[in-house]
Amino acid sequence: MTSPAVSPIASPEAAATMRAVIKARPERGVEFVSDYPEPHVAAGEVKIQVAAASICGTDRELYEYSPMAKGFNLRIPVVLGHECSGTVIEVGEGVDSLAVGDLVALESHVACWECYPCRTGNAHNCLNMQLLGLHLDGGFAERLVAPASACFKLPAGFPLEQAALLEPAGVAMHAIQRSGVEISGADVVISGGGPVGLLIAVIAKVMGAANVVVSEPNAYRRGLVEKFGATAVEPSEDLVAICGALSAAKSGFDVAFEASGVPAALPALLDAVRREATVVAVGIPGRAVELDVASYLIRKGLTFRGSFGRSLWGTWEKISYLVSSGKLDLSALITHRLPLSDLDSAIDLLSQESCKVLLVPGLPDRLDAPSREDA
Ligand SMILES: NC(=O)c1ccc[n+]([C@@H]2O[C@H](COP(=O)([O-])OP(=O)(O)OC[C@H]3O[C@@H](n4cnc5c(N)ncnc54)[C@H](O)[C@@H]3O)[C@@H](O)[C@H]2O)c1
Ligand SMILES: [Zn+2]
Ligand SMILES: [Zn+2]
Repeated sequence: MTSPAVSPIASPEAAATMRAVIKARPERGVEFVSDYPEPHVAAGEVKIQVAAASICGTDRELYEYSPMAKGFNLRIPVVLGHECSGTVIEVGEGVDSLAVGDLVALESHVACWECYPCRTGNAHNCLNMQLLGLHLDGGFAERLVAPASACFKLPAGFPLEQAALLEPAGVAMHAIQRSGVEISGADVVISGGGPVGLLIAVIAKVMGAANVVVSEPNAYRRGLVEKFGATAVEPSEDLVAICGALSAAKSGFDVAFEASGVPAALPALLDAVRREATVVAVGIPGRAVELDVASYLIRKGLTFRGSFGRSLWGTWEKISYLVSSGKLDLSALITHRLPLSDLDSAIDLLSQESCKVLLVPGLPDRLDAPSREDA
């Protein structure tokens, strides 16, 4: 890994290159470079000065070049980073929805806006979808060029670090929207207390949920769940009995969210909800999962749904409003801020005591940043 000494904020005019974290080869690891070509703005695009970019489990998969990462059909080389925010510094021909100085957060599901799902309100499930930071250069860089149609314009003064978390918070918000359940007064059970499960819990509390119970094996993460006012339990505990007791005459919770991706977590959720409840799958299991249709969908009357990405732009409108109105403080989830040069350490942090880890291009690079192998 190289860690060259460069000024943290170079003017785009002066620099024909920029600092970026790239996946340069189809193998484990990433590279921090200071000579990535400055991106140019084409018609319909904007250039963004990146304020902050958040790291998630997908970035770890890309780092490791796991089977899941290989399945993404990456464009290599590519600048990583799909949860990011910044300020528009250049606007391409034909763009009238954005102007220089606007604050934006990026939608990572870059839609074509022409296919059938796009034309019928389901652009998050576009047939020609390209993913930011996988197929298009992403936000682990000083600057980023993206289609204007993938930018969510934020109100002036919106905190840009929190804006970088709108993408993952939107995953949680969309899952709640997909449930179709009126969250105010509802009893909510979640498996998985990673960022996605925790965000579902936090947003459900903000929306007035009654009981919010999160099943999570990691003690540090259970602590975060409790810090945000929800009830944390271990997967080894009797979730069905706990939810049964808390919901009294309802004999089960109103809605469940599977946010671990672990197939073993699903059966307890199906039993912890009441009759005619809704179960939403958000976590992505690595294999096919069995479901007893007769017992749960037919006799118990459950609605079972999946949730993918964020609805464009209904999810963004809701989640950004919760933040800009002060009802939801996403900064409380940020545990670490690191310069671009520290991606290796940032990936390591994901499996330690952390919640959301930000890369902040404006922070000076650490010349002595340890490589992941040395850490
Ligand atoms: N549907 C979507 O659009 C979408 C978007 C982003 C992420 N995801 C998926 O959502 C899931 C969660 O994402 P994340 O970033 O929070 O991941 P994460 O890996 O940080 O969190 C998963 C959590 O589940 C916990 N867990 C493990 N076994 C468990 C069990 N038996 N019961 C309960 N919890 C258990 C882990 O300790 C961990 O804290 C992942 O599968 C991810 O791929 C889906
Ligand atoms: Zn992500
Ligand atoms: Zn499309």
